[in-house]
Amino acid sequence: METDVLIVGTGPAGGAASLFLSSYGIDNVVLTRYGWTANTPRAHITNQRTIELMRDMGIEDQIIGKGTEHALMGQTAFSTSLAGEEIGRIRTWGTHPQRLADYTEASPTLPCDLPQTLFEPILVSTAASRGARLRFDTEYVSLEQDDDGVTATVRDRLSGETYQIRAKYLIGADGGRSKVAQDIGLPMAGAMDIEGSMNIVFEADLSKYVAHRPSVLYWVLQPGAQIGGIGAGLVRMVRPWNEWLIVWGYDINQPAPVVDEAMATEIVHNLVGDDTIDVKLKGTSVWSVNHMYAEKASVGRVFCMGDAIHRHPPSNGLGSNTSIQDAYNLAWKLALVLKGQASPKLLDTYDEERTPIAKQIVDRANKSRTQFGQIFHALGMTPDAPAGRTIDSRKDDSPEGAAQREELRKAIELKDYEFNAHGVELGQRYKSGAVISDGTDEPEYTRDPELYYHPTTWPGARIPHCWLTRGTETVSTLDMVGKGRFTLLTGIGGEAWVKAARAIAEETGVEVEAFVIGPGRELDDLYGDWARLREITDNGCLLVRPDAHIAYRSHDLPADPTAALGDALRALLNR
Ligand code: FDA
Repeated sequence: METDVLIVGTGPAGGAASLFLSSYGIDNVVLTRYGWTANTPRAHITNQRTIELMRDMGIEDQIIGKGTEHALMGQTAFSTSLAGEEIGRIRTWGTHPQRLADYTEASPTLPCDLPQTLFEPILVSTAASRGARLRFDTEYVSLEQDDDGVTATVRDRLSGETYQIRAKYLIGADGGRSKVAQDIGLPMAGAMDIEGSMNIVFEADLSKYVAHRPSVLYWVLQPGAQIGGIGAGLVRMVRPWNEWLIVWGYDINQPAPVVDEAMATEIVHNLVGDDTIDVKLKGTSVWSVNHMYAEKASVGRVFCMGDAIHRHPPSNGLGSNTSIQDAYNLAWKLALVLKGQASPKLLDTYDEERTPIAKQIVDRANKSRTQFGQIFHALGMTPDAPAGRTIDSRKDDSPEGAAQREELRKAIELKDYEFNAHGVELGQRYKSGAVISDGTDEPEYTRDPELYYHPTTWPGARIPHCWLTRGTETVSTLDMVGKGRFTLLTGIGGEAWVKAARAIAEETGVEVEAFVIGPGRELDDLYGDWARLREITDNGCLLVRPDAHIAYRSHDLPADPTAALGDALRALLNR
């Protein structure tokens, strides 16, 4: 069997890689050792950037349609149990009115909550409908690479037979215990198995405890809840309000517990705080918290992505999102190289661009996990809490009571770094050979870079979103870019850039779409937002990569725009 790209894994990373490559017309084979995609809901939080990518693929409606809507995601509660005393709430995932403004201003989409069990089938079935070849029950065994390609040995798990697949490139999207990453010897930093955790998936109608405070996360703070796991006990909505996932920790220094039906039901009853509820158990599993990232994501013709290169707790909801975004970064580069339009050196920029993100999100998610400690401290549940402090002492009319209330408010506010980290979710800026500097310094962050997204057209950043008009239609700047091609944006007086783009496209064979934005042109900036965001003059230009990041920026029109644009694109493509 031969293919251009062999993808190991049909999880968020592999499924998305297959979708992107198929959409770009690249032949690919994607395989998983199992008979179908994920059978347990793990990832849910689908952030704006991921939905933007699905919008680019033309399947945003399916994601939003199957997911739980943004408005139901945000009343995240902290309590002693669902039925017990509520200690505090935080509006999450951009649902606070002020944050909703930030989120709405930054993207044409809003986050939604889509279980991985529903997301993966959309990815792989759309990929298959666009030409991907899927192989279930097929296990990757080993690989060998030479100057022209990779030969992978795989095992058909039904017949037990092994056979070989020859590919020009191989993607290891085989998860947190990646054999591909191990086989190519990726250097990993950090540690695995630092805390123990268990998942309990069950059906139970919990409407009476949650419907008045709709959220995807309900945190349980009670003695023992800070042992292991992800910082505290969690009752996690899968489908409102009758399917749930409980995440509960265990001491990693002890043998992993055998979570049988009796134990699982007891934990559910304890966290819900009601042992009369009817629990229909759907599954249990134990897993461990990791703090590990790859310092290099590829060797030769083999590229790893997703949990294979970043392994961390679910805090911040970044795992599946980042995995899909890894795939988006690599797919257009592979497509250009395979079509002979770019030198293979372009592929080096995958490592340059994605390994800093891997480190960033692994560190962020682990920090968020530990930042529950402040809440436990404020409630008197840690050994170092002030003497006499209890959950109830926060109700006292005393200076200590007031100080405790203030400490608790601050401790809950700190969780913004887990639940409203808009800068982390949307603000990725790349520095690599696939970004041509315009000589300006990176713009300063005027607000907290993790909490707030800072729009900029500085080369390497994602193009800022704003609404433009095209006839009677309202379109996002993001709708004008992507689709596997480069896009040039200019304004009135910048028509010479459009000619330049056409000439370069003709010369290189690389597709470059060009738009003039202004009154009387195909696109208009009726709201004036683009003029505020673009950071160039009317006759300057932005060249945007297929993944919506700015490749090149010119503040105004040079004497020879064709030469300037040609130099930039050739440098990027290494031609
Ligand atoms: P993933 O592990 O999903 O997939 C690996 C694939 O490789 C599978 O198809 C597997 O069959 C295949 N495979 C492995 N070895 C193979 C072999 N030898 N041969 C063939 N196939 C092989 N993330 C997020 O963004 N938002 C969230 O809300 C959450 N929430 C969350 C909650 C909980 C409880 C957990 C445990 C995790 C999350 N996550 C998350 C993280 C998220 O689940 C995780 O980051 C992604 O599944 C990673 O996707 P990958 O595709 O990289 O690996």
